[in-house]
Amino acid sequence: MDPVTRLGVVGCGLMGSGIAEVAARRGLDVRVAEATPDALEAGRRRLVSSLDRGVRRGKLSEEQRERALAGLSFTHDLSDLADRQFVIEAVAENRDIKTEVLRTLDKAVEDPAAVLATNTSSIPVVDLAVVTERPGRVIGMHFFNPVPVQQLVELVPTLLTGADTVQRTRDLADQLGKRAIEAPDRSGFVVNALLVPYLLSAVRMVESGSARPEDIDRGMELGCAHPMGPLRLLDLIGLDTAQAVAESMYEEFKEPLYAPPTLLRRMVAAGHLGRKSGRGFHTYDA
Ligand code: CAA
Repeated sequence: MDPVTRLGVVGCGLMGSGIAEVAARRGLDVRVAEATPDALEAGRRRLVSSLDRGVRRGKLSEEQRERALAGLSFTHDLSDLADRQFVIEAVAENRDIKTEVLRTLDKAVEDPAAVLATNTSSIPVVDLAVVTERPGRVIGMHFFNPVPVQQLVELVPTLLTGADTVQRTRDLADQLGKRAIEAPDRSGFVVNALLVPYLLSAVRMVESGSARPEDIDRGMELGCAHPMGPLRLLDLIGLDTAQAVAESMYEEFKEPLYAPPTLLRRMVAAGHLGRKSGRGFHTYDA
């Protein structure tokens, strides 16, 4: 099959803008959809400033930046994705929102062979597939934050995903310069199933007063050579996203190790969402 040339990305938050950036840098025609003009403008700004940062750091030339920008278009109407060959949704980690997006995309994207992929971190992919008329063409394609840096993509076929869809998604991952692993359609897939209990354990350590955030982070950075400690990583992921992921995993397995600790819930309620709000377990400049 011909490589994907026309990609759609729904959602231009941290993940969506990263996916769109990587694809545009690889020469794809990328159309990005967001729900509102304000969200779209914020996403566009995030993406452009990431490209600018790439130029400043010598990762791409001015010309490559211009070419990537020329390949990007933005819309707040999902029907503008009608001609896409492959669409990745990366909207908020919320089952109702994702269900609605998949249902609308299924109607909007004209080619019945086009693949609809979800970047969900923890919602069972089959639950999203069955709301469409093309469950064999729905798959999980889970990227990691920051998308331009992390090499991994988890491919998550459901019981209904066709083998050709898995291959098409693997080929797209290659086109984007990512390395793929296949992961089971169970909440958390492979990576979050291991990562989330560890992150939540760090929150419980803070909650119980047994260690300070800076010591926990330094411990894992210097003791285990992790690029960042668990609380800094939670701040990067976003505490609201981490809570949503933990809730999905808890709902699926009912294991206490996945239950979001009270401190995490309270921080989310207070708007301490991590880097994106300027404050989480650590504080950040605007
Ligand atoms: N976009 C593009 N490039 C970026 C970037 C971004 N947002 N952030 C960092 N980089 C690049 C920098 O340009 C730099 O590249 P060079 O070394 O080639 O110059 C490199 O990454 C390192 O960046 P910094 O020197 O600024 O900072 P750092 O060394 O502290 O690295 C980090 C930052 C890449 C985030 C690193 O700390 C890291 O890899 N942390 C772990 C992140 C992680 O575990 N992510 C997975 C989260 S889980 C998830 O996403 C799944 C989920 O469902 C919740």
